[in-house]
Amino acid sequence: MRFGVLISGTGTNLQALLDAEAAGRLRPAEIACVIANRPGAGGLGRARAAGKPAITVDHTLHAGREPFEDALLAALAEHGVEAVVLAGFMRLLTPRFLDRFPDRILNIHPSLLPAFPGVDAQRQAFEHGVKVTGATVHFVDAGLDAGAIVAQAPVPVRDDDTIDALRARILEREHELLPRAVALLAAGRLRRDGRRVLVRGA
Ligand code: GRF
Repeated sequence: MRFGVLISGTGTNLQALLDAEAAGRLRPAEIACVIANRPGAGGLGRARAAGKPAITVDHTLHAGREPFEDALLAALAEHGVEAVVLAGFMRLLTPRFLDRFPDRILNIHPSLLPAFPGVDAQRQAFEHGVKVTGATVHFVDAGLDAGAIVAQAPVPVRDDDTIDALRARILEREHELLPRAVALLAAGRLRRDGRRVLVRGA
């Protein structure tokens, strides 16, 4: 299954996917291309270094969501993409885009959803005072970090924690969780039953 990875920033989750693919741990998933909505996104360099097509579709150069998404869809189609991973992609996608990849778009989010959706989830959790937070991979729907949950990993919050230390520990879990979920989706092992996603052969 050919995946397009959409990013906005540094791309450490993208790197985890690239490393997993190089190690044979992503099979039968294959990374077909990487698209950033910001020209300077650090992840583009990671994609190039791995020999992947690294494409910029700058949302600021498109007159609204529709033309932006059309440009994304065109780039994905050009690379024969069948499924999508949002790996730190900071734009909301409309049903028009989502309907092209039903149950084939994954997102990684740095909290135990449904707690703390939206931006800076690690800070939200820290400031709320929770004792456990974590990382979530979920299918993407039209809501904000609202789609059916595929996989989660807990991360304890320590008394002597800082937001940065917590963020780093969550990121480690993200880097394990996301490649695993991508491989499961590609292998046809995820079955969604309403909001519940079941893993075949688990
Ligand atoms: C990650 O924390 C991810 O969960 C969130 O954005 C961040 C992206 O980090 N959606 P990176 O670009 O993969 O390093």
